[in-house]
Amino acid sequence: RTARKGLIPGDGIGKEVIPAGRRILEALPASLGLKFEFVNLKAGFETFEQTGAALPDETVQILKSECDGALFGAVSSPSTAVKGYSSPIVALRKKLDLYANVRPVKTVMTAPKPIDMVIVRENTEDLYVKEEKTYDTENGKVAEAIKRISQRASSRIATMAGEIALRRQKIREAGGQSIHKGPLVTITHKSNVLSQTDGLFRSTAREALADPKFQSVAVEEQIVDSMVYKLFRQPEAYDVIVAPNLYGDILSDGAAALVGSLGLVPSANVGEGFAIGEPCHGSAPDIMGQGIANPIATLRSAALMLEFLNEEQAAAKIYAAVDANLEEGKLLSPDLGGKAKTDEVVEDILRRL
Ligand code: NAI
Ligand code: MG
Repeated sequence: RTARKGLIPGDGIGKEVIPAGRRILEALPASLGLKFEFVNLKAGFETFEQTGAALPDETVQILKSECDGALFGAVSSPSTAVKGYSSPIVALRKKLDLYANVRPVKTVMTAPKPIDMVIVRENTEDLYVKEEKTYDTENGKVAEAIKRISQRASSRIATMAGEIALRRQKIREAGGQSIHKGPLVTITHKSNVLSQTDGLFRSTAREALADPKFQSVAVEEQIVDSMVYKLFRQPEAYDVIVAPNLYGDILSDGAAALVGSLGLVPSANVGEGFAIGEPCHGSAPDIMGQGIANPIATLRSAALMLEFLNEEQAAAKIYAAVDANLEEGKLLSPDLGGKAKTDEVVEDILRRL
C-alpha cells in the first residue's frame, strides 16, 4: 500500500522534529507492506512573511487532492496581532472538517504511577462557535456567548471515543503495554447545571456508546470539575475521556502536564478518512536551532496518524520503540534531564524499530 503524506514543518523546532517523523515512517519494517510518499508543504508565520498567507491555498489543495494524512510541526504566533495573520492549524481543521482532537497522555509503565489515557475532544462547536456579543445596560456592559451542542457532533465524537477504546484494546493485545484491563470511556459534562446543552451531550454520548459494537466497552460519566480533581489525584483511572470542546481543551492541556514534558505529548486532528498528527508543543523559539528538541511528541503523532488511517500494527511498532527508549532512559533529550540531541534520540528509536 502506498500512501501519500503531507509534511508541514511550520516554524521553529517544527523544522527539526518533522524530519524525525518522516524518518520513523520510512523506517517501518517492510514486512508491514506499507510505503510512503511525502510532499513538503508550507504553513506558518515564516510562510506568511514570505507569501502573505499563513496557509497557502496550494497546501490545502494538495492535502485534499493527494494525501490521506499529514504531519504538522508547530507555528509561531506573533504576540501582538498582525493584520492578515491567523493560525493555519485552526484553518486546516475547518477546511478539512477535522472534527476530533485526540490527545493521548502516557508515561512509561515503570513510572511510579503509570498513566495511559487519551482525551477525545469535540472540535467544531460548544462555546467555540464564537458567536459572542456585548451590549450596554444600566449597570454597565454585558457580554454573552452561545454554547451550541448538537446531537450530530456529540454522537460522532462519542462514536469515535468508543472506536478508540476498542482500538487501544487491540493494540494492547498486539503486545503494547498498558495499565488497563479493558476498554473504558468516561463521558465528561456539567449537566447538573447545564441540563440542556451538556444534558444533550451526555445523553447523546450514552446513546452512541450503547451501540452493540461497543458491547465490550465500559461507559462511565463524570462532571467536569470533579474530573479535574480526579485527573490529578488518580490519573491512572482513565482510559478514554470524551468531552465537549471547551472542557476537552482545558482537560487535555491539564493532562499533558502530568507526564513531565511537552516534548512527549502527541495529538491528532481527525476527520473522515483524514488525520493530521501534530505534537502538542509550539515552535519553542528558546531552543530552536540547537538540535535538542525532543522528537518523541512528533514520533508519537506519526503513530497516531497511522492509527486513524487503520494502520494499527505500524502504529503499535512506533509506540513500542518509543516506550523502549524511555524505559531504558539512556538517550534522553535535555527536557527529560538527558544530554542527547534530537538525532541521537531518533536513531536510538529507529534501532529499536
Ligand atoms: P512552546 O510549546 O513552544 O514551548 C514551551 C516550553 O516547552 C519551552 O521552554 C520549550 O523549549 C519547551 N518545549 C516545547 N517543545 C519541546 C520539545 N519538543 N522538546 C523540548 N522542549 C520543548 O510554547 P510557547 O513558548 O508558549 O510558544 C512558542 C511559540 O509557539 C509561540 O509563537 C506560540 O504561539 C507557538 N505555539 C504554537 C502551537 C502550535 O503550533 N500548535 C502550540 C503552542 C504554542
Ligand atoms: Mg489548548
